Amino acid sequence: MNRRRRIYEGKAKILYEGPEPGTLIQHFKDDATAFNNKKHEIIDGKGVLNNRISEFLFLRLAEIGIPTHFIRRMNMREQLIHQVEIIPLEVIVRNIAAGSIAKRLGLEEGAALPRPIIEFCYKADELDDPLVSEDHIAAFGWASPQDLDDIIGLSSRINDYLCGLFRGIGIKLVDFKIEFGRQIKDDMVQVLLADEISPDSCRLWDAATDKKLDKDRFRRDLGGMMDAYREVARRLGIMPESDRPDGSGPVLVKS
Ligand code: TMP
Ligand code: ASP
Repeated sequence: MNRRRRIYEGKAKILYEGPEPGTLIQHFKDDATAFNNKKHEIIDGKGVLNNRISEFLFLRLAEIGIPTHFIRRMNMREQLIHQVEIIPLEVIVRNIAAGSIAKRLGLEEGAALPRPIIEFCYKADELDDPLVSEDHIAAFGWASPQDLDDIIGLSSRINDYLCGLFRGIGIKLVDFKIEFGRQIKDDMVQVLLADEISPDSCRLWDAATDKKLDKDRFRRDLGGMMDAYREVARRLGIMPESDRPDGSGPVLVKS
């Protein structure tokens, strides 16, 4: 049925060749992984929700002038995107201590950080995406000084905007991970926001109760992952059309 050329398959997404040169189709799978694939389950319906949530957030960010790879959503699981050369960095922005920074620096989870902190990890699954410094990035040429300037400036604007957006719907944006790509346009290199922004790649806590509404429900075996993702979509005002006509809700399928 699917005769499109597959360009790349990651843990949660597949990239196919797009309909025009310079475009790709980004397909959201239902796979949930953690700890670099050591934990893996199929969460029925997750891809549909992440496609919608990421579309919504990329469109809002484009409205405030953030250049992104997003062109349009094509269907429940797929979006058309600009082809970019991915910069091999996971850019993590943190507002509140949680996850690896809490462990690494002995901070209490939930403690507000003195100011937003940006961290970089080198994208290399075989090394478990190690934390790296700006000097590593410059020395190994993973991003040029200009790229890095753009990445830091854009990440900070994205954080400010998303913190406000989520606050407005009663959610704390604890931290998130984003990726950037390069596109050559009119002989100029442009840095674009790429990949996705979804509850897979953010920590989102209910502002009143600190209830986790993100992938930590899966990482930490808390249960209720899909209910949490649906709650985020509902508060954003974008519950997707149901792909389960009987309305029975998603089911967890162990792999
Ligand atoms: P961390 O506290 O585990 O370093 O995660 C920081 C943020 O980055 C958190 O919102 C989850 C997200 N993240 C990813 O999206 N992909 C990853 O591979 C990792 C390790 C974290
Ligand atoms: N996405 C990463 C993995 O599959 C890690 C994570 O999000 O926790 O292992």
